Amino acid sequence: MNSKDVVYVNGAILPRAEARVSVEDRGFVFGDGVYEVLRAINGRLFATRFHNERLERSLDGIRITLNAGDSPARFVEIGSQLLRENNLTQGEAIVYMQVTRGATTRAHAFPPPGTKPTVYISVARFTPYTEFARDGATAISHPDLRWGRCDLKTLNLLPNVLAAEVAKERGAFEAMLVRDGVVTEGAKTNFFGVVNGTLRTHPCDNHILPGITRSVLRDLASQLSIGLDETPMSVSEIPSLSELFLTGTTTDVMPVVRLDDKPVGSGRPGELTRRLQKVLAESLASGD
Ligand code: PDD
Repeated sequence: MNSKDVVYVNGAILPRAEARVSVEDRGFVFGDGVYEVLRAINGRLFATRFHNERLERSLDGIRITLNAGDSPARFVEIGSQLLRENNLTQGEAIVYMQVTRGATTRAHAFPPPGTKPTVYISVARFTPYTEFARDGATAISHPDLRWGRCDLKTLNLLPNVLAAEVAKERGAFEAMLVRDGVVTEGAKTNFFGVVNGTLRTHPCDNHILPGITRSVLRDLASQLSIGLDETPMSVSEIPSLSELFLTGTTTDVMPVVRLDDKPVGSGRPGELTRRLQKVLAESLASGD
């Protein structure tokens, strides 16, 4: 039973319903902050080192300095504590953490020195998308309307939100974002195509988020001697894909069997996708 529902805000653990941040918080007013989402299985957080490094990078990228004593590693400890306090140490859960530039009178440039970043950490039960994982999901293509630093995991998710909503309205699981005729990533996932037995994905540059699952999968593929080509993929190449799948902390390896109402490859989850689903599941189960 998950009787307790507590979250962490600025040094205190308290009931979610009592947690408060200021209306002047820059996360609320400007979306001025960064976040991470981590997967927890049976109370163990997955790939914490990668998430910590990315959070550090996102904070540096938008020039937020944490309060003394705070660090991504400390946030992971708090996340683990929240899992225990919320009785989420069995089964699947996610840990959400966000840091904003703090609360101050609205002005675009940075707040006065001494303004403390706001830290919010929460946990939630997570149900994996087992049916989509088994049967495959559908996706649509959608213009990538995001800014020039998609490599930072910032709270500014409006283009992702709008694209995700269009996907939902069309009954699709994900929107594949297209910038200048090139598929960059999904609204909340990275993508991998398969061409002649080789994986294809967008290179890690400022146009995509360097996904943790993407990077775990890259290593797993390399261990299996599966080739990976990071040449940007144009939309005109989509018909040549024999398989397509999405990766993400809450998505694992998700086969995409229809894109824009056309079948991808055979229209069923492919063999390579199945292999990689299996090795990722093993990696998640082993805890690292
Ligand atoms: N989204 N690309 C984007 C734009 C994302 O938002 C995410 C993750 C990914 C996959 O990254 P990772 O493997 O590190 O989860 C790629 C998270 C889960 C979210 O916003 O909820």
